[in-house]
Formats: sequence, C-alpha cells, structure tokens
Amino acid sequence: MSEGAAKKGFGEKPQPREERRKFQAIKGTRDLLPPETALWNRVEQTAREVFDTFGYGEIRLPIFEPTDLFARSIGLDTDVVSKEMYTFEDRDETSVSLRPEATASTCRAYIEHNMQQLPQPVKLYTIGPMFRRERPQKGRYRQFYQINAEILGGTDAPAIDAEVIEMVMTFFERLELQGVQLDINSIGCRECRPKYVEKLHAELVKVKDKLGEDSKRRIESNPLRVLDSKLEHEQPIIEKLPRIADHLCEECKAHYAAVKKELELRGVKYQENWRLVRGLDYYMRTTFEITAKGLGSQNAVCGGGRYDGLVELLGGPPAKGIGFAIGEDRLILSLQEGGKGEAAQGRDVYIAWMGENARATAVRAAKSLRNAGFSVELPPVEQKFGKALGQADKLSARYALILGDNEVASGEWTLKTLATGEQGKFTETELLEFLKTEKAKADPSLRSG
Ligand code: HAM
Repeated sequence: MSEGAAKKGFGEKPQPREERRKFQAIKGTRDLLPPETALWNRVEQTAREVFDTFGYGEIRLPIFEPTDLFARSIGLDTDVVSKEMYTFEDRDETSVSLRPEATASTCRAYIEHNMQQLPQPVKLYTIGPMFRRERPQKGRYRQFYQINAEILGGTDAPAIDAEVIEMVMTFFERLELQGVQLDINSIGCRECRPKYVEKLHAELVKVKDKLGEDSKRRIESNPLRVLDSKLEHEQPIIEKLPRIADHLCEECKAHYAAVKKELELRGVKYQENWRLVRGLDYYMRTTFEITAKGLGSQNAVCGGGRYDGLVELLGGPPAKGIGFAIGEDRLILSLQEGGKGEAAQGRDVYIAWMGENARATAVRAAKSLRNAGFSVELPPVEQKFGKALGQADKLSARYALILGDNEVASGEWTLKTLATGEQGKFTETELLEFLKTEKAKADPSLRSG
C-alpha cells in the first residue's frame, strides 16, 4: 500500500497475503444473479423500446461527479445531500461524490455539450446504478438502479408534462406491472411557492409541540417536507395545514389544469395528491409519483417532475426541464410479487455425446445451433448417456441431442424432447428446421423472422 493511502486510513491493517479471508458484499449492496438478471435485461430492453418510440436517445453518464454539482442541484438541506451521499476527497483534493441520482448529471452534460444548439427539446434516457447511504430495507439499497428520462429545452407546454407521464405509464403497462397508481401535484413556482411556504411555516410553528422530532426540525430547514410525514399522530394535524393548490399563482394554476386535461386526453388515470412535494429542491410546478403493488412501505416505483431553471442554475442557458426516475430494483420486486417476473431459464439443447467420433460432430452441431440462435450446452468431457440426460434435466434443457457412433455413421441424429420423452431422427438440416419451427410455436413473435 502506498504511504499516501496508509495515511488516509485506507485498509488500516494490511493482512498478510497468505491469511485466508472471506468477503461479503457491503451492506446495502447486492449481487444480481441469473436467472433474475434475465428479468432485469427484459425490463431494460422494454424501456429502450418504449422510450425509442417517444424519440428518446440514450446518454451514458459518469458514476461520480463534483460534489458541488449535486449540492447545488438537489439542495444542501435535502436528506440526499446532507446525509446520504458517498463523498470523498480525490487525490488532487477535489471533493467528488458517487451520483445519488441522474438529473443533475444530465443537465451538466446538456450544458457541457451545448445541446441547446440541437433541435429542442432534447430527450434523453439513462439506465444505471445510483448511490445513497440510506438504512437498507426491502426495496431500499445503498446501491440501487434507476431508469431515468429527461426532456430538456424547448417549451414548458403542459403536453410535454403529460407525454412524459404517458411514456412511463405505457412502459409499466407493457410490463404488466400490477396495482399501478399515479399521484400528481403542482408545487408552484418561484413566484407563488415562497409565499405558500411562509404561510405553511407560520402554521407549523403554531402546532410545533404536537409534531415529532423530524418534522420539528423540518419546520425550519424544509417545511414542505413535513407534508411527506407518515407518522400516524401527525396525520390529522397535516390534514388541516394550508394547501398549495389554494396558493398557486394564475400561471401555475392554468398550467396544472392544462396538464390534467392533457393527461385525460391521453387516457392516463391519475389521482391528485396535495401532499406530494418530493424530496429534492429543484422541482417546480408538476410533480408526480407512481406506486405499485407488493412493495410495503417503500412503494414508490417512480418519481419525477418539472425543474425549469436547473440548467440555468448550473451555468447554462435558460432551459425548461422535466423528467422521472424509475427505481428498477423496486420495479423488479413488484413484477416478481405480481407473478410477472418469470425469467427465461434453461437451455434449448443439451448435447449428449459419446465417443471420439461423436466429439467432432458435437462441436460442429453446437456451432451451427448457436449460430441459429439456440442456447446449447456442450459437455466438455464425455459422459455416459444416462448421466448426460440427468444433467440435461437439471439444466432444464428442452431437448437432448444424442450423438453416438450410430448417429455419426448414419448422419441421422437423435433428438429427445425431455418433457415428453419423445424421440426422433433428423439430418442436420432437418434438425435446424424442426427446432426453428418449434421455437416459433412457443414464441409467436419469432414467426415472421
Ligand atoms: P427520487 O424520488 O429520489 O427521484 O428517486 C426516484 C426513484 O428511485 C424512487 O421512486 C425509488 O423508486 C428509487 N429509489 C430512490 N432511492 C432508492 C433506494 N435507496 N433504493 C432503491 N430505490 C430507490 C430522483 O432521483 C429524481 N432524479 C427523479 C427525476 C428525474 N426527476 C426529474 N427527473
């Protein structure tokens, strides 16, 4: 270890190399394993397909950024910035943080690459890990994954807000996510919100003694967040607090009404929720959250909203912005709980070969089957047929291709359907044709191809 690293306390006690030590993933992080990763891939592939139909392009962003980028965008008084970021000093003594979300980085990239010169608005999506040092529990991790979409530049026409929401709802529908509920709100703008927050603050001060510790603290640091409280004894108090809808300026009121109309036009069902304020400072006007079935207390599977002014705050041109992030871990959990999470598993073909002659044929068969898109298991060493068929079963193979001396000599291969025990003889060409037809029957989408 370098002296510098030792001084900074990295790996305080170097272990002698020969001493064995077992490692575990760090608390709040986890390995995603097959077959579940097949479901993750299907979800991500569906997101790409749906977002593509709405004209979004993919942006890939760094995992770490200057700490200030997040502090400025998300806000110093938010939980994310004040308590949850993984922040460290880089070797050149600049402060960097693992990204807790992707909106700030997307805006940074929009400015850095002069995207305001492209046709507006610019529609971007990104998929990847985020980091927040929260208390881990079901659906809450310290490394978690988001599917994030942003529209930057152009107009703030309410149709944009509605279309972003329509897109995420279309995506959830495509996945057959169960129990989806969309909550929307408007939290006003720089004109009307401060006046509302002042009023809210004054009312909160009056009831301070009846509130819990967290809410008491928030009266001063971020009064809007008191509305987020889930504490039971605070609920009747919160219900009596002034509501933002009654304090919106004329423009915000008109914008919110138009967003609702545009949602109706698109057949998107929503519920208004005046307490939906969101935990990040950059929001204004439209905010929304989507919950789904089977997630317990961490049931928000998507959160988003409008953030006009953020690009400007980060040194860019005045630009409108709106977007959302889906919590992919929670989405997967909900799909699994709703029975929509079966992942494709098993091989198409297990090649049971015996004898040196069959070995070359087996290698060739594996190559041509794989080239045709079938998943093939080719055992590396010879096995008795009985054992090979047992292995094929364990791997949930659909077919065993049996290749022994007879098959090689005659050029007629034996294919056994493992579920039924049926057997048939095929030449190589016939075999490929047969397997393709069977696959198309199982998955009609393949028929045209
Ligand atoms: P957010 O509400 O902080 O918003 O996060 C969005 C979603 O990420 C949450 O609804 C949840 O599903 C998931 N999520 C957040 N923290 C965790 C965690 N510790 N473990 C598992 N899942 C988690 C944002 O991040 C904004 N950047 C969204 C946005 C994009 N707004 C505009 N554009």
